[in-house]
Amino acid sequence: MSDTSPAPEAPTIDEASIDAAIDAALAAIAAAPDTAALKRVRIEHVGDASVLTSAHRAIKDLPKEQKATAGKLVGQGKGRVQKALAARQEELAAAEEEAALAAETVDVTLPTDLRPRGATHPLTTLTDRINDFFVGIGWEIAEGPEIESSWLNFDALNADPEHPSRSLQDTLYVAPEGSGMLLRTQTSPVQIRAMIERGAPLYVACPGTVYRADEIDATHSPMFHQVEGLAIDKDLTMAHLVGTLDAFAAHLFGGAPITRLRPNHFPFTEPSAEMDFRCFRCEARLGLDHDADPDCRVCGGTGWIEMGGCGMVHPNVLRAAGVDPEQYQGFAFGLGIERLLMLRNGVADMRDMVEGDVRFSQHYGTEI
Ligand code: DAH
Repeated sequence: MSDTSPAPEAPTIDEASIDAAIDAALAAIAAAPDTAALKRVRIEHVGDASVLTSAHRAIKDLPKEQKATAGKLVGQGKGRVQKALAARQEELAAAEEEAALAAETVDVTLPTDLRPRGATHPLTTLTDRINDFFVGIGWEIAEGPEIESSWLNFDALNADPEHPSRSLQDTLYVAPEGSGMLLRTQTSPVQIRAMIERGAPLYVACPGTVYRADEIDATHSPMFHQVEGLAIDKDLTMAHLVGTLDAFAAHLFGGAPITRLRPNHFPFTEPSAEMDFRCFRCEARLGLDHDADPDCRVCGGTGWIEMGGCGMVHPNVLRAAGVDPEQYQGFAFGLGIERLLMLRNGVADMRDMVEGDVRFSQHYGTEI
């Protein structure tokens, strides 16, 4: 390394090299493919270290008589280059914006996603509606397992050991034989579970899936849904039962509700009754003071629709669940949700509910 720096070059401005620098700059500007490349061209040809800028700086050191000519030469040259840069910048920026817009174009005529949308099953919607009613009158919702002990499904509910519903023709038992377990045939065992777990007083609605050894046809299914109601308190009577059913019928069918009870027998209630609701279609068509429409598709001309069973909870059932029948009474009722959907919404065939065709569900929308 030499310790003496080279002598500074005598300032000269050579016209040919300025022209060459201008030509090189203009050629580079024209060739720049995009704004990023143009930025590099700007630095190289008119930046601090460029030939033109260095020449510009050198003018002040030139002999006086050369300054004007050199100033004109370099100034005009730089001006041409700046102008070319600005024009090219505008051109490239416009092209880049156009390309970006083209890339973001959405073709609104392309086919949309045509996969069918799902829909809530009408049984679910109807069950939600039922639950809403009971929650609205201050009851709780209780659920139990679908695989149930036969003690809870039958014995605790006061069913005789020989009761026909226990037979293999009616009930699906869980292997091995003698396991004492079955697929619950009714939601009534949830009554017992609720009383044992929550104690009295108690107001619960118990919706759920139940199973029977049935073949599927238009009106039967081996798997269906029920909702059970149970109220346990001091001084409850059948009048409370009827009042509750009237309000429930009004929630489901609207209009002026009339509930009719007909004597029947269930092991878990005493007295027991079959509960009918006044046919909502005849009522709407003919008014309450009139007879039923003899051709009614809903009630078949009887003016009543059979909804399920009910009664006052049998003292044996209260005792089995640890509730003192001397202190507490209660009423209970149970009904099938599929049957309710068929009557209420005119579903003619139960198989439509289990086939899983989404169009069936879509037909009902989100509110039924
Ligand atoms: N568990 C009965 C059935 O499956 C329905 C029923 C009837 C439930 C009377 C009740 C009731 O709570 O009191 O057919």
